[in-house]
Amino acid sequence: MNTQASDRIIIFDTTLRDGEQSPGATLNVEEKLTIARQLARLGVDVIEAGFPFASPGDFEAVTKIAQQVGTPDGPTICGLARATKQDIEAAAKALAPAAKPRIHTFIATSDIHLEYKLKKTRQEVLQIAPEMVAYAKSFVDDVEFSPEDAGRSDPEFLYQVLEAAIAAGATTVNIPDTVGYTTPAEFGALIKGIKDNVPNIDRAIISVHGHNDLGLAVANFLEAIKNGARQLECTINGIGERAGNAALEELVMALHVRRQYFNPFLGRPPESEAPLTRIDTRQIYKTSRLVSNLTGMLVQPNKAIVGANAFAHESGIHQDGVLKHKLTYEIMDAQSIGLNDNQIVLGKHSGRNAFRTRLKELGFELSEQELNRAFLRFKEMADKKKEITDRDLEAIVNDETQQAPELFKLEHVQVSCGDHARPTATVIIRTPNGEELMDAAIGTGPVDAVYKAINRVVNVPNQLIEYSVQSVTAGIDALGEVTIRLKHNDRIFSGHAANTDIIVASAMAYMSALNRLSASLQSGKVLHPQHDAAQPVG
Ligand code: KIV
Ligand code: ZN
Repeated sequence: MNTQASDRIIIFDTTLRDGEQSPGATLNVEEKLTIARQLARLGVDVIEAGFPFASPGDFEAVTKIAQQVGTPDGPTICGLARATKQDIEAAAKALAPAAKPRIHTFIATSDIHLEYKLKKTRQEVLQIAPEMVAYAKSFVDDVEFSPEDAGRSDPEFLYQVLEAAIAAGATTVNIPDTVGYTTPAEFGALIKGIKDNVPNIDRAIISVHGHNDLGLAVANFLEAIKNGARQLECTINGIGERAGNAALEELVMALHVRRQYFNPFLGRPPESEAPLTRIDTRQIYKTSRLVSNLTGMLVQPNKAIVGANAFAHESGIHQDGVLKHKLTYEIMDAQSIGLNDNQIVLGKHSGRNAFRTRLKELGFELSEQELNRAFLRFKEMADKKKEITDRDLEAIVNDETQQAPELFKLEHVQVSCGDHARPTATVIIRTPNGEELMDAAIGTGPVDAVYKAINRVVNVPNQLIEYSVQSVTAGIDALGEVTIRLKHNDRIFSGHAANTDIIVASAMAYMSALNRLSASLQSGKVLHPQHDAAQPVG
């Protein structure tokens, strides 16, 4: 794979780094690996796997992704590092097993960041940036440099820093709109200015990175492409810091659906059919669901491309038009993002082989142990639900691959409720030291009663800030998926579970969030790449 190609767009996915900076989106190592494998199937060129210096967990995740996903025919694996020796050394070490490692180092260039965050002069930044690029280059050939807050930096200073970084060996220069401040015309002009004013720019790929504070990140990137950007840094479902990052699925589908419009900007004839990215668009929907389930970040129903309503036609006029000719109201086919017609594939009598084969067809590669667990869940479900669809299978597998640490284990949950009863729940929970504890509580409703009973056993103070239940498929026997978010000392933890019984799913989702919370209380602080003070250089 050639990530240096200039006649197509390089997709750099930062779901596991910037996406994971979303409040509550914290993923553990196994979950990051699961997402990384799916990103490789999706066909991204570069996976930014994490910030290795931030915590032992991040270091381990980057190492494992480098080992298991960063194979010679797999994507480039990238690690983030502030412009300091310690960060760069940690990134180099974590990335060592990757066939194609990339170090991404950054330092802010806007006056506001220099004065208040870094407390450094422009001269100092102009010296540190190339020094640290050269240091990164002593470990790997592929070095990306980002001038943080480029969108609010003085362009003349930005040109100088970029020139110095490229001269020191940066092969990609990434232009971040860190605070989502620029508008499309401004961002396009910024990229053009860089192309016109950085003398050695032809020696590097221009990349863009942007946040969605004003909802403009995708529009900004499309203008950037027209002005010479060839790498897009984006996340699945647009998750990320604050309002999130530019959404991968929106960028890819805009380039796919409007290929004729974008072709000339890449020097191709308008009618060229060659894809503009390497993405297998049919993997988009599945990737979106996986990331949403594992991070607990729900996708809004009207979200472009992957929202539940994105392909639904509600008004009579639209339905009539679509029935007469699809193209009257549809600019893309639901199947192009992998949304199939929800076929009934398996049932009660389906055996292990049929189950394994269908999962394989859906792109899931499970270990023997995972397959056994998933098959048990499938059999349990098939007893309750006659028709098991692909969406159900995805929910089972996503649930089984969600690896919240199981410190506390729910052994039993039972509720009694009704219009004349006081909702009462009884739970039995196995504690980390193997004890089985039983407790009961009364609540305003059955879920409240269950959560109160669980709290009496687990006893970790928290505030439930979001509870959502969605059905996986249509029908009265559908699987219910519960996603919750809870808060403890200003940190957010999410949990997710699916079951035909929504009370059981609610209890399991709550346990999963509580287990994440408890595990984090046992582990150390995680550094934030942008907010935590920079380490001294040297
Ligand atoms: O938003 C930002 O500026 C970043 C950089 C580290 C690229 O995430
Ligand atoms: Zn960012």
